[in-house]
Amino acid sequence: MNRPVRHFLTLQDISPQEFRHLIRRACELKAMQRRGEIHEPLRNKVLAMVFEKSSTRTRVAFEAAMTQFGGSAIFLSPRDTQLGRGEPVEDTARVLSRMVDAIMVRTYAHETLELFAAHSRVPVINGLSDRYHPCQLLADMQTFFEHRGDIRGRTVAWVGDGNNMCHSYINAASRLDFRLHIATPEGYEPAAELLAAHGDRVTLLRDPHAAVADADLVVTDVWASMGQEDENSRRRQAFQNYQVDSDLMARAAPDALFMHCLPAHRGEEVSAEVLEGPQSVVWDEAENRLHAQKALLEFLLAPAT
Ligand code: CP
Ligand code: NVA
Repeated sequence: MNRPVRHFLTLQDISPQEFRHLIRRACELKAMQRRGEIHEPLRNKVLAMVFEKSSTRTRVAFEAAMTQFGGSAIFLSPRDTQLGRGEPVEDTARVLSRMVDAIMVRTYAHETLELFAAHSRVPVINGLSDRYHPCQLLADMQTFFEHRGDIRGRTVAWVGDGNNMCHSYINAASRLDFRLHIATPEGYEPAAELLAAHGDRVTLLRDPHAAVADADLVVTDVWASMGQEDENSRRRQAFQNYQVDSDLMARAAPDALFMHCLPAHRGEEVSAEVLEGPQSVVWDEAENRLHAQKALLEFLLAPAT
C-alpha cells in the first residue's frame, strides 16, 4: 500500500511526539555508531541534494548519513544543473522525484521549497531556506537533551537576528514546550505572524541582558545570513550590543549551555572566549547534525512499521 508522502519543510510537519521520537532515535543511532554497529536501513536508496547556497555541515551530514545507511547521495549545484539555467522548479521536482527516494533542498525563498514539495512524489527535506532551518533544530534539541535532559519547561534565550534559525526556535518552543526569550535590535525581529501564533511560549525583548536572565540555553547566529552579504556593515552596526560574550553568559543560569549552528564569526555575534569556553557545546551540536539527520531519513524513508 502506498503511504502518503511526508515532507519536512518546517518543524510544524512533525508532531511533538514525532519530534521527541527523532531526538531519542538520534541518540540511539549515535550510540550504535560509537559501538561500530552497521545499520543499513536505506540500502540502495538515493538522496538528491539541491544546494543553491553553500554548506559544510548539512551537506556532509546528509551525504555521510546516506553512505552509512547503505544508500547514496547526489550533490546538485545550480552551477551544474539545468535548474541553474532556468528549468522550472516544478519540472525539476517532477523529474528528480521519479529517480530518487528523497530530495533535500537548500534555497532562498521558502516558497521554492513548497513548490518543490508540491510537485515531488518523494519526501522533500528543508536543508535551510531564508525562513527556516528545521534540520538544525533536530540537532540542537538532541544536544540539549544529551547534556541536560528534557527541555520542557526550560528557558532558552535567542540573541541576535530574528532569522531562519530564530524562526525554527520559535517552532521548537511550541513543539517541545519551552519558553523562548528573543532579543533583537529594532527592525530585525522574527516574523510577526510567528510571534503572534506562539505568543504563549515566546517573548520578544530588546535587551539581551533581560533575555538571557536565568536562561538554560543561550543561542545566537550570524548577523548577516547567506544572501545578506551586502548588508554586512549596516548589520554590524545594528547588532553591536548583541554579542554573546562572557559578561552576557554570566547573567544566564550558572549551568547554561551555549549553542551556535555555525559557521561562527568570532568577535561579532559571539566572543572567542564563549565559543571555545566550557559552556559551549557547538562541536557536539555540529556532530549531532549527522545523527539527527539519520533519524530523520530513517523516519521518512524506512519507518519501523
Ligand atoms: N549550520 C549549518 O547548516 O551549516 P552549513 O551551512 O555548513 O550546512
Ligand atoms: N542564518 C544562517 C544559518 C547558516 C547555517 C544563514 O542562513 O546563513
